[in-house]
Amino acid sequence: MSVSREGSTSAARANGGSGGLGLGKDLTGLESLTGAQIEAILDTAEPFKEISERRIKKVPVLRGKTIVNLFFEPSTRTRISFEFAEKRLSADTVYIGASGSSVQKGESLVDTARNLEAMRIDMVVIRHGSSGAAAFLADRIPSNVVNAGDGQHEHPTQGLLDLLTIRDRFGSLVGRRVCIVGDILHSRVARSNIWGLLACGAEVAVCGPKTLIPLGIEELGVTVLSRVEEAIEWADVLYVLRLQLERMSAGFIPSLREYNRVFGVSRARLERAPREVVVLHPGPMNRGVEIDSDVADGPWSLILPQVTNGVAVRMAVLYLLAGGSPELAEAAKEGA
Ligand code: CP
Repeated sequence: MSVSREGSTSAARANGGSGGLGLGKDLTGLESLTGAQIEAILDTAEPFKEISERRIKKVPVLRGKTIVNLFFEPSTRTRISFEFAEKRLSADTVYIGASGSSVQKGESLVDTARNLEAMRIDMVVIRHGSSGAAAFLADRIPSNVVNAGDGQHEHPTQGLLDLLTIRDRFGSLVGRRVCIVGDILHSRVARSNIWGLLACGAEVAVCGPKTLIPLGIEELGVTVLSRVEEAIEWADVLYVLRLQLERMSAGFIPSLREYNRVFGVSRARLERAPREVVVLHPGPMNRGVEIDSDVADGPWSLILPQVTNGVAVRMAVLYLLAGGSPELAEAAKEGA
């Protein structure tokens, strides 16, 4: 569909930034990206990490850009991380949630976005409960759109920050064995990780109750493991997911206690691992259900480094969509 400010959406895509990386206008998922594109985004995040360690955490990379953060679902990490990324790159930002906005009076997503466009915005970061909402919006407005999580579909910047954290730890994603444990069926994080990890040459397995493993997932090139002990034996990385109770329409598990007993990632289980294994979790965690505190706070955990990397990854995505290139990121952050 064509929309106009200075041209059509397709024109904006064709002319979209990302410095020759070919990302186009928007980031709505990792499924369509190549391993080379994903690695280039991670490379771009590397120089941006240092900005958050400075006394004055601000560079003029996005000065003059206006970014709207539209969050129609709750968020702590993603929302704050985008906001820090935007502010540290000197963009002007506003936050709009479902409650307190005219969405509560029945205004549609597109009408909301078009009214924002009329105020001359440059980018929209959107979290929405419906799968496909980010792509739907991206096709209808000329601003860059970044998906901050859409229903059960994708959460691409979460996937990118996870890949960066694994790459930091092991030096490369190629051949790394990552097992995603838990509620795969309802998880947009699982989908983004599966696409991203496979594209970058990692091996991927999933493990969880049969009721929470999507039918036919093996066709993506993913191995299904039925026991968490098997997952721990196989993996270099355990990626633990919470049960998405808010997206469950039926009783997928007998009880939380039973789930913890069978699939919970505990110290006792990790101590039997045949080799070093690291643990990631996208948050929010339900301690004592999918992960025990000994693990979340223990030597296996890369959970807080994930959160730290989230800011640098989001800086990189915003910078690239605004027309930056991986090669110039180091110079850009120094104000060149
Ligand atoms: N990982 C993640 O998306 O967390 P939030 O829901 O707190 O943003």
